[in-house]
Amino acid sequence: MSSTEELAPKKKPPFHLRGNYAPVQEERTDTGLEITGSLPPELEGLYLRNGANPKSGWSPHWFAGDGMIHGVRLADGQASWYRNRWVQTRSLNEPKARMIGDDGVVDYTIGVNNTHVVDHAGKILALVESSFPCELDSELNTIGPYDYDGRLNSAMTAHPKICPVTGEMHFFGYGFFEPYLTYHRVSADGELVQTEAIDVPGPTMVHDFSITETQVIFMDLPVVFDLDLAMKGGMPYAWDDDYGARVGVMPRGVAGAQPTWFDVDPCYVFHPLNSFDDGDKVVIDTARYPELWRSQSADFKNDAALHRWTLDLSTGGVSEAALDDRDIEFPRLPDSLVGLPNRFGYAVASFGESNSLVKYDLEGDTSSSHDFGTQRIPGEAVFIPRSDSAAEDNGWLMGYVYDKATDRSDLVVLDAADMSFTAAVHLPVRVPFGFHGTWIDQQRLDAIEAND
Ligand SMILES: [Fe+2]
Repeated sequence: MSSTEELAPKKKPPFHLRGNYAPVQEERTDTGLEITGSLPPELEGLYLRNGANPKSGWSPHWFAGDGMIHGVRLADGQASWYRNRWVQTRSLNEPKARMIGDDGVVDYTIGVNNTHVVDHAGKILALVESSFPCELDSELNTIGPYDYDGRLNSAMTAHPKICPVTGEMHFFGYGFFEPYLTYHRVSADGELVQTEAIDVPGPTMVHDFSITETQVIFMDLPVVFDLDLAMKGGMPYAWDDDYGARVGVMPRGVAGAQPTWFDVDPCYVFHPLNSFDDGDKVVIDTARYPELWRSQSADFKNDAALHRWTLDLSTGGVSEAALDDRDIEFPRLPDSLVGLPNRFGYAVASFGESNSLVKYDLEGDTSSSHDFGTQRIPGEAVFIPRSDSAAEDNGWLMGYVYDKATDRSDLVVLDAADMSFTAAVHLPVRVPFGFHGTWIDQQRLDAIEAND
């Protein structure tokens, strides 16, 4: 190294490699975890959360790092363990493996599987929208890529929707080759039973979607594949003023179905809160960005706000309404109400200086929040019901909260009814800011462990 190089100032790493976005380098198993407050005995199960954690210490974008799952096992008012494990993908273990071969064929077994972790039909699946799912066991060990007995012919979104009425899982895959969008339905017992290529004008980035009791809802929004960006090696999607924006409503369970499309004002949505049928109308609530990635993904403003589309299937009419003007992300509701009318929704919010979890009462048009202050930063919170028959908000919110002062994280439990503090499991390490998680109750965990 020359003296000039030694004296040159080091370039500040990008945000996703600094502070609590930075990856951790150690896989741990910790027991005997300290608890503040009292963990309700009903909380018997496993909380899992996925996030990007580049093993090399570097990735070109927050969304591109290797997946790492952080899990806490709860039973009898105790936390039996905390574990963090990389998802052992082919991308992690074969860094030279290429997703797109010289013949243009996409290998969906290559991917970082860093975005979400869900369970369905007795399997735990780590998900990333570019690739096949990656199956895990209940101790976070990787089993391997999962393709529904060879029936899956596209990537799988990280945001499948499990219908609480039928137990079916609905999902889609998108990509930059035609068909750009493909819908799939998996039966309650885990068989892929329907696949439909969906007609859309171009290769847009479709992060999430939603369902109602009778419909599947797609969002075709103007963040479009950009070959120049792809050649530069960054996120290959950017805003396109000419693309337009539309929401598609497609009947569930109809072979050969296609969506009916409704034009909406241009915007971007990573995450809907929920959607549901209301007579001839479909109501869709989302965390809506007025614009995203104007010329590249670095053009990002954290300004998604709760927004409602109401689509009239009988007239083709669309109405749009802002439900709130505050910045939110990671909206969630009880899994038992996905696709059904919901009164309450929860999200991560930043109100002024304070980091918060907010609770929306969509019927009362009010909100409340749990404020963590400036030093403690929550991630996505999942809702866990007290029982199957409990009132809609009778349960808990659970998620990781990072404490700047200690540089460690807690698994925090709030009472969702009044947003008060219930308990915190203190972890001996920090959990880097990540993406999405799932609570797997004991009954589902038993089914998963019987399969392992
Ligand atoms: Fe997401």
